[in-house]
This record gives sequence, C-alpha cells and structure tokens, in this order.
Amino acid sequence: MSNALISETELMEKGKQSILFTAVRPDVVMERGVGMHLWDTAGKKYLDFIGGWAVTCLGHSPVVITKSLEEQSRKLVNASPSFYNKPMLEFAKLLTDHSCFDRVFFGSSGAEANEGAIKLARKYGSLYRNGAYEIITTINGFHGRTLATMSATGKQKWEDLFAPKVPGFKHVPLNNLDVLRQAINPNTCAIMYEPIQGEGGVFEVEEAYIKEVRKICDEQGILLIFDEVQTGIGRTGKLFAYEHYGIEPDIMTLAKGIGGGFPLAALLVKEKYNIFEAGDQGGTYSGQPLAMAVGMAVVHEVLNKDIAANAEKQGLYIKAKLNELKEKFALKDIRGKGLLIGFDLPSPKGSEIAAECLKEGLLINSPRPIMIRLMPPLIVAKEDVDEMFSILFAVLTRVL
Ligand SMILES: Cc1ncc(COP(=O)(O)O)c(C=O)c1O
Repeated sequence: MSNALISETELMEKGKQSILFTAVRPDVVMERGVGMHLWDTAGKKYLDFIGGWAVTCLGHSPVVITKSLEEQSRKLVNASPSFYNKPMLEFAKLLTDHSCFDRVFFGSSGAEANEGAIKLARKYGSLYRNGAYEIITTINGFHGRTLATMSATGKQKWEDLFAPKVPGFKHVPLNNLDVLRQAINPNTCAIMYEPIQGEGGVFEVEEAYIKEVRKICDEQGILLIFDEVQTGIGRTGKLFAYEHYGIEPDIMTLAKGIGGGFPLAALLVKEKYNIFEAGDQGGTYSGQPLAMAVGMAVVHEVLNKDIAANAEKQGLYIKAKLNELKEKFALKDIRGKGLLIGFDLPSPKGSEIAAECLKEGLLINSPRPIMIRLMPPLIVAKEDVDEMFSILFAVLTRVL
C-alpha cells in the first residue's frame, strides 16, 4: 500500500514491524528535541536525563550542530577517505592541542574506535613484544557490540553469546592489583579500562590503583588504553576523565559526546604508537567532512563555554540532592563524577522506576535492576535538576 493512503499512526505501527528486533523499546515514538527536552509524536514532552545515552552533551539540536551541518553540507559532504579534507585536519589538530595525544584516527562509533585500539595494541605486540596479543579488560566493563569489542566486554551474560568469541581477552575485577598482576604474562600487550564503567553501573577506577597500573605498564612495556567513549568530552567535569587521576594513557577512544548526537568517534594515540601501516586501519567514513565539522563545532563549544565546569557543578548539586533523599528511600552508594552519576536502590525496582518516570515525562536509565544512572546533557541547569527531582521524588514515593 502507498504510504499516502495510510494514516501516520498506521505508518508508525507498520514501521515498528519492519525494524529488526534488537531492543525492548517503550511504545513511544520520538519526533523532536530542543535543549533538555524531547517530544514524541503524540506531542508529549520529556525532560531528558538519559541525554541520547550520554551523547547529546550540548542538548538536543543545538545551533552549533545545525549551523555546522548546514554550512559544511553546502561545501563538501564526502571527498572519500583517500584524501585529506580541511575539517579533518582542523579537527585532528584541535583534539591533539587539547589532549596528551599526538595522532587521531576518526570513526563513527565507540565500538569502531575500540576495535581500532585493539588492533593497534596487537600491532604493537607483534612489533615490539614478541607477538603478544592478549588484552586485559575488566569484569563489568563495556566496550561495544562488534565481535571483538563484545569479547573485550566483561559482561557475564555475554560470555557464551556468539561463540566462538575473539580470543585474547582476560577479564579482571576493577581496582584489584593482585589479580591484575597475576593476569599479566608475556602475551599481554595492553590493559584497557573505562575510567568510570558506564554501562556496568558507574564504577570508577581508584586513583592509587590506576597510578600503579600506569607504573606496571611502563615497567613491562604494556599499553594502557582508556575507553573514554562515555566519560570523554566534559562528561566527568574535565574534558577527559584521565585528567582526574594524574596519569596519561597511551591510547584513548572517544565517541558519544564528541559528535553531540552525530555519529562520530576517535582513536587517539601518542606519537610512538603511530605504528599502523597503510591499509591496517580505515573506513569509508573515516574523517568524513560533515562529521568533522560537527565534531569541531561541538568541541569548540564545550571548550569555549566551559561545559565541563557546568557538568561538575550540576553533578555536585545532583549528588547533594540525592544525599538528602538517601535516608528516606534507603538509597545506597551515590557515586560517579560530573554528570555520570549512579546510585543503588533498596530493591531491584529500577526498570519500574524508569518506566514510571517515562509516564511522568522524565527519561532516566536503570542499567541494572538495582541501580539508577543519570547522564543528562552537560548543559543541564539547576531548574532542570529541580524539576527532575520533583518527578523522581513522586515516583520513588510511589514505587519504593
Ligand atoms: C564505554 C563505552 N565504550 C564503547 C561503547 C560502544 O559505543 P557505540 O555504541 O558508539 O559503538 C559504549 C556505549 O555505550 C560505551 O559506553
């Protein structure tokens, strides 16, 4: 049947039947977003404390993104990855100027950036560590959904999924030096962490631990990789989370916030790990001009408006408000940095709480039934936080 002959509601229903099932989604169709808010096709407004899954750092449809897309799309959309393009060079320089890294490879998703990091670590192992290929990652860590990044991910539920997995990954508990030391062997080429585990429920590396890990890596010639896909670009109150711990990783991956909602990712490395040969790594959309222009506009805005400082300020405010509610609702372990915040519930009612909040026009996430995670756009204001808490308070009162 022609689309013109059926109503929009019918078209949406038929569209849902055409989507390959990969996720349980509520019966809501999002249509429009501005700043801290989304609207669905029924016109209902939602206050967004999920932020496009820790992505929309500047809120929904910020002018800097729409303007850069418009301007760049009139100039050049795609020149092929076999040529440099102007925004690619400008953006790479911007990222290396503001980080401890010297070289950037651009991709489109966090998983793609992490695949690049894994390949680079194996290349390093083959060149400098007698073919070492093992990468140590953490239990409960998350690195993406390609086969190698699922293998790197320390999610118990995924252990037997899509077997056989990519070999060469060992998972250790976070912040346990003894176990880490035992896991290292001559086959180890890299250790890979999220500085704060995001999907796992907001669990952070301890400063003393990561400093010791840095030392071990230096002593043994092992690469330290930080997956900052979720923590990068101001989310934790600094431009990059590694800045909190007084250490520098050898490799860092970025996605989510770097495009502010546009698919964009980056793999950043120090000069001495600029070791790929032509053809080892690539991608049709690597350094694609539209993505480069958007990324540059987003990062400039984050720097110029000191968006990370707002993330820190509002994060502290959210944590203070959560501490006020702690006793009343028996909340536990309020944790995280900046605007990546998690807390535990007294009972595994996270999904119910998130579903009730959705009904009340608030988007929040429950990464595990016992937890709630907040990851709003980094432009969130005190008034938004107050509004979020008035809805959350009512929902917690009802559900707990
Ligand atoms: C820390 C981390 N790494 C990697 C990924 C995968 O990123 P993407 O979904 O863009 O492939 C995610 C996604 O949530 C993430 O949080």
